[in-house]
Amino acid sequence: MKILITGGAGFIGSHVVRLFVNKYPEYNIINLDSLTYAGNLENLKDIENAPNYAFERGDITNEKFIDELFAKHNFDGVIHLAAESHVDRSISDPNQFIMTNIVGTVNLLNAARKSWNQDLENKRFYHISTDEVYGSLGDEGLFTEETSYDPRSPYSASKASSDHLVRAYYHTYKLPIVISNCSNNYGPNQFPEKLIPLSINNIKNKRPIPVYGKGENIRDWLYVIDHANAIDLIFHQGRVGETYNIGGNNEWKNIDLIYTLCEIMDKKLGRAKGESAQLITFVKDRAGHDLRYAIDSSKIQKELGWKPSLQFAEGLEKTVDWYLNNEDWLNHILSGDYEKYYNQQYHKR
Ligand code: NAD
Ligand code: DAU
Repeated sequence: MKILITGGAGFIGSHVVRLFVNKYPEYNIINLDSLTYAGNLENLKDIENAPNYAFERGDITNEKFIDELFAKHNFDGVIHLAAESHVDRSISDPNQFIMTNIVGTVNLLNAARKSWNQDLENKRFYHISTDEVYGSLGDEGLFTEETSYDPRSPYSASKASSDHLVRAYYHTYKLPIVISNCSNNYGPNQFPEKLIPLSINNIKNKRPIPVYGKGENIRDWLYVIDHANAIDLIFHQGRVGETYNIGGNNEWKNIDLIYTLCEIMDKKLGRAKGESAQLITFVKDRAGHDLRYAIDSSKIQKELGWKPSLQFAEGLEKTVDWYLNNEDWLNHILSGDYEKYYNQQYHKR
């Protein structure tokens, strides 16, 4: 099996690449990534010399490059994670989200279609998507696979658009696709623009922790390795043409999550109880901020026997430990364009 994983140098992609390279020595894993600000080959240092792994640097928006890559490798399967993934960036600058998330996905679909032609036996195009395509929940209810799409940010609209195109290629051309929509991931290697790693970094450096609005928004958090395990199961056993929701059954108000993180870090950093929480700073809300996401993951649980393996307290502690023990990884990111982005995003508020 020759498998193309796109976005493998990013947060979730790097965990998926590692899992596949280690678990399936008989597969050839090709990681395609253009190394945007979010792509980091340091995430894959431990497996970069594995005999069943190769890295290709390239942009999924480049149609010619993608066609040539498929012609060169004859992939049997695609696991597509490459995307612009940060909601705040999509609000300040939507265009790249349209290019990568929509046009890039179509380039991959077309290349797979051409490459596989009529020989679709044992082929699979797996598109990784998000629960944000379903919009925002009130106090009650869960997103199921039947929930209507109602995306509300340029990011989620671009992901919703790509999901529709992937399904259209199944219905129109019989391309053997599968899609999963997952809730918020956390864990090692997440870029520190997202809530948890940004807060860990700010607490560590005694910088204000920016909480949007009143911190009342709710997210359903899942440890990234549990997501990678779900992706493995769906890639191998998910039914063609189907969608699977993946979630942690683990809803937290942002403000409660941040207080918990502060408590963990007070202990780890030898600070007085309550010291880190003094850094909490309420800032202007995100435009169009979705109130609540929560996933009903009973389909993948029943059909494929998946369930989250970690309790949140354990996962958060492991995550904090990882960031405290990997200062070099963080410092390399912080020394790049990060500070410029940070100032643009937070000092205008
Ligand atoms: P990320 O931003 O950490 O990584 C994205 C990767 O894609 C980076 O390595 C980047 O270099 C690469 N990339 C971006 N544009 C590219 C292009 N034009 N060509 C080639 N490579 C490109 O993202 P993530 O958080 O790991 O998310 C991965 C996927 O999972 C995305 O599709 C996202 O929508 C989805 N997802 C994320 C979450 C989450 O909580 N992070 C939850 C559900 C679904
Ligand atoms: O639900 C899945 C999605 O989760 C993925 O599709 C996205 O790629 C991923 O980025 C994530 O989106 P969110 O917008 O939910 O994640 P983020 O970490 O940006 O924000 C989590 C919550 O915290 C959200 O309610 C906004 C809030 N927040 C975020 C930041 C960065 C703050 O209060 N302050 C902040 O500084």
